[in-house]
Amino acid sequence: MNEIPVVSTPGELLSVALRIAREAAVTARRMRDEAIGDVQTKSTDTDVVTAADRAVERQVVEALAKERPGDGVLGEEYGDSLSVDPGAVRWILDPIDGTVNYLYGLPQYAVSLAAERDGEVVAGVVINAATGDEWTATRGGGAWRAGRRLSGSERTTLDQALVGTGFGYDARRRAHQGAVLARLITRVRDIRRFGAAALDLCLAAEGSLDAYFEKGLNPWDHAAGGLIAAEAGLTVAGLSGEPAGDRMLVAAPPALFPALHDALVELDAAGGP
Ligand code: IPD
Repeated sequence: MNEIPVVSTPGELLSVALRIAREAAVTARRMRDEAIGDVQTKSTDTDVVTAADRAVERQVVEALAKERPGDGVLGEEYGDSLSVDPGAVRWILDPIDGTVNYLYGLPQYAVSLAAERDGEVVAGVVINAATGDEWTATRGGGAWRAGRRLSGSERTTLDQALVGTGFGYDARRRAHQGAVLARLITRVRDIRRFGAAALDLCLAAEGSLDAYFEKGLNPWDHAAGGLIAAEAGLTVAGLSGEPAGDRMLVAAPPALFPALHDALVELDAAGGP
């Protein structure tokens, strides 16, 4: 029987996350490739995604249970499988972030896996399962992609900023998000909606987007990507002093954050359903 792991450093947790997320990304990609016929011919489009989501999550949960039997897991498909004791690790998993892209075969979907201890994310990895690109971070250890340390965009003014965002699935929420965007788009360089929040955060971390914001994210959408953005030096927060969470998450370099924050407050971006 396995020993329950006691304490692990963020670096050790990242090694576990990376190994397991890589295998998960291979499964996600393979299931997508194998299911192409189903996606195109069946009326039950979403079943293909749900089956892949579940299979990837199950694989990760089983791998974690084997390697780290004392840890908890919060996952998109199975929910919170364990409550964790103080000091214990809870893994936060999005088996496939960007499920609509996955359905359409757009190469912007990811496995996101983070390790949290006492409510603080300490290690995280996001892998674009279609391309194999990987972003990692440990708390205090910086954010990295392919051996390069990330430091975000140097943009300082909102009117020059390329800003990523996303929309929830609920129509009433979307109506509010659309109204906010209609007024924000005249104040920024442009808007991007790529469809996978975890990857959007990584793009902001590496400066391919100047900033990113979204209302309504779940913990598994932003746990790993949020740490990667923060470790790249971005401010990752909610509005008016709130922490980043489902009401709002804004990720922007410190010089750009106040202007985007104030515009979002003015437009009531955290409001609505
Ligand atoms: C969604 C994506 C999308 C974001 C949504 C998320 P899912 O996650 O990250 O970009 O705008 O808010 O729910 O459903 O593809 O895992």
